[in-house]
Amino acid sequence: MKDNQTDKDLIEKIKAIKQTLGKKLIILTHHYQRKEIVDLGDYKGDSFDLSQKAARDEEARFIVFCGVHFMAESAAILAKPHQTVQIPDMNAGCWMSDMADAYLVERAWNEVAAIVGENRITPLVYMNSDAAIKAHCGRYNGAVCTSSNAAKAFSWAFQQREKIFFFPDEHLGRNTGNALSIPADRMLVYDPEKPLGGNSKDDIRKARVFLFKGYCLVHTRFSVDNISDMRKKYPDAKIVVHPECTAEVVKASDAVGSTSFIVKYAADAPAGSTVIIGTEINLVKRLALEYPDKKILALKDSLCPNMFKINLKNLHSCLENIGKTNIVNIDKDVKKDALIALENMLNL
Ligand code: 13P
Ligand code: SF4
Repeated sequence: MKDNQTDKDLIEKIKAIKQTLGKKLIILTHHYQRKEIVDLGDYKGDSFDLSQKAARDEEARFIVFCGVHFMAESAAILAKPHQTVQIPDMNAGCWMSDMADAYLVERAWNEVAAIVGENRITPLVYMNSDAAIKAHCGRYNGAVCTSSNAAKAFSWAFQQREKIFFFPDEHLGRNTGNALSIPADRMLVYDPEKPLGGNSKDDIRKARVFLFKGYCLVHTRFSVDNISDMRKKYPDAKIVVHPECTAEVVKASDAVGSTSFIVKYAADAPAGSTVIIGTEINLVKRLALEYPDKKILALKDSLCPNMFKINLKNLHSCLENIGKTNIVNIDKDVKKDALIALENMLNL
């Protein structure tokens, strides 16, 4: 009871600050945020939608990003000089993006480039990465991509050069390669813990796509057994998953796509139908509330603790200190190079 009271107070205070700041403030929320945060936001979306919004908005002086750090960083890279980007909790990171630190990425790139020649590889980097990795990609005129435009980015990258080095999500990379009918034996996993990523020079010469061995712990928890169990319980259900799931899980599902794709899939499902979703639990719970006329179920409960770090308390504190604390700053040179890769994505 007391906690609800506190939440209510915080919501009122946040609304009052929003009212005072008016159009000077925009709150962007990712689909994985808790319901109360999404309800207070001005705009919700997948990571591509939010980066587009940050790139296009001219009016706001303050952008408050309710999501994880790499998303806020991308907004800061795309923001205009008169805008500041703040994140309610600076420690809201991403396990996957942490797997590809700049040193490992540089070493992987140099090893492969020494064998095949760097002018034959386009670097593609998933949005879920640090600004330094995006900058590396920009220096070689590669592009950023998200789960909503990965296939487009792969096709673009192949028009530039004959091979792709994809960082850091092995699964999104493989699922995209599969969708484009790239043979399995031409997609090579590069394990940063092993010399040459665990591959022979010959395999590296033959490969078309190098997949850096990174993954999301929230999405690799879903298994083919989870899908079989749900199909037994709900034989008429449709199953939709995020492309950070393994290729086996994607193959056993009915549909795959970004968080915005999943939102639309649930919205378009006929009343009375059952939709089972393999992605972060806060999005599934919100969709279940939004569509009481449909049965919306989680393939399994899987929470992203980093997304969950944003709450009413730190959002309120961020807004009370608007333009002052938790500002996402990017080094000038990193920003310049990372912007090339982000703009290549926005121009796809
Ligand atoms: P979307 O780009 O689909 O929103 O996904 C972001 C993400 O972090 C998924 O884990
Ligand atoms: Fe990163 Fe996975 Fe969380 Fe997405 S769900 S932010 S990839 S840890």
